[in-house]
Amino acid sequence: MSTDAAVRPKIRIESVHKSYVIDGEQQSVLDGVDLTVNEGEFVSIIGPSGCGKSTLLNIIAGLDQPDSGTVELSGSLSGSMQERLGRTGYMQQKDLLLPWRSVLDNTALGLELRGVPKRQARNQALEFTEAFGLKGFEHLYPFALSGGMRQRAAFLRTMLLDQDTILLDEPFGALDALTRVQMQEWLLQLWDSFNKTIVLITHDVDEALLLSDRVYLMTARPGRAALTLDVPLPRPRQYDLVTTPGFIDIKAKLMEPLWSQIDRTKPGGGNPFSA
Ligand SMILES: Nc1ncnc2c1ncn2[C@@H]1O[C@H](COP(=O)(O)OP(=O)(O)OP(=O)(O)O)[C@@H](O)[C@H]1O
Ligand SMILES: [Mg+2]
Repeated sequence: MSTDAAVRPKIRIESVHKSYVIDGEQQSVLDGVDLTVNEGEFVSIIGPSGCGKSTLLNIIAGLDQPDSGTVELSGSLSGSMQERLGRTGYMQQKDLLLPWRSVLDNTALGLELRGVPKRQARNQALEFTEAFGLKGFEHLYPFALSGGMRQRAAFLRTMLLDQDTILLDEPFGALDALTRVQMQEWLLQLWDSFNKTIVLITHDVDEALLLSDRVYLMTARPGRAALTLDVPLPRPRQYDLVTTPGFIDIKAKLMEPLWSQIDRTKPGGGNPFSA
């Protein structure tokens, strides 16, 4: 987190409850979630599949409405979806690239939807293709891209909207281990230079700790914050941090409550991250 600025909450969630009809009955998905993300912070949310992580981001982004509880954005109460829509850059769990648009046209899409003329939107996107590792690939269509490129294209589309707050739902979920590490280092550099507030959902404990100032661990459905862990490791960070004693000490603190969620009496069902 930047050290100069006063601490100002960008996102404040209090006692948020949400239920859906699941398998024919009303079931609680979020059960009194509290979350605060301050300006310029990088915060990760980690938790079992189905615990309501994407639901929480949908609520913050204004795509869904809690049954009860409060959502504040930039210090103002934002009760209706309308008040929240368009105030964050949101990269959803699926990359949602349009197959009939080239990389460049996909990345420019968010700007176009905002009314920026097509040529201007493309020029703005072109300025960043190098930084996002897409230079030379601008005119390819999504089917011809590697998983990493697709993710970077979806990420560039989100970043071009130039919102102060970025919500990322498992942006590296589909990537192999090496590409994932490259993307994590790239995101660290990007965050250092762009000075954004970022909320990242991940299933990867190392990723959460490497990138974040703070990690929220959620319980299985219905989701609640089970643990909030500060990550006071120095920045700038690189991936080799994950093998240092300081990192492993913090990881042990996060793993302890995770182990307690594992039910070893169930075959394979031990994994708290699986559905
Ligand atoms: N619009 C909806 N209508 C009905 N049920 C929903 C809806 N959205 C989510 N759910 C249900 O709410 C629960 C939480 O879903 P959500 O997608 O938020 O979980 P998640 O923590 O993001 O999971 P994953 O890690 O697998 O992405 C799931 O059981 C899901 O089926
Ligand atoms: Mg999800």
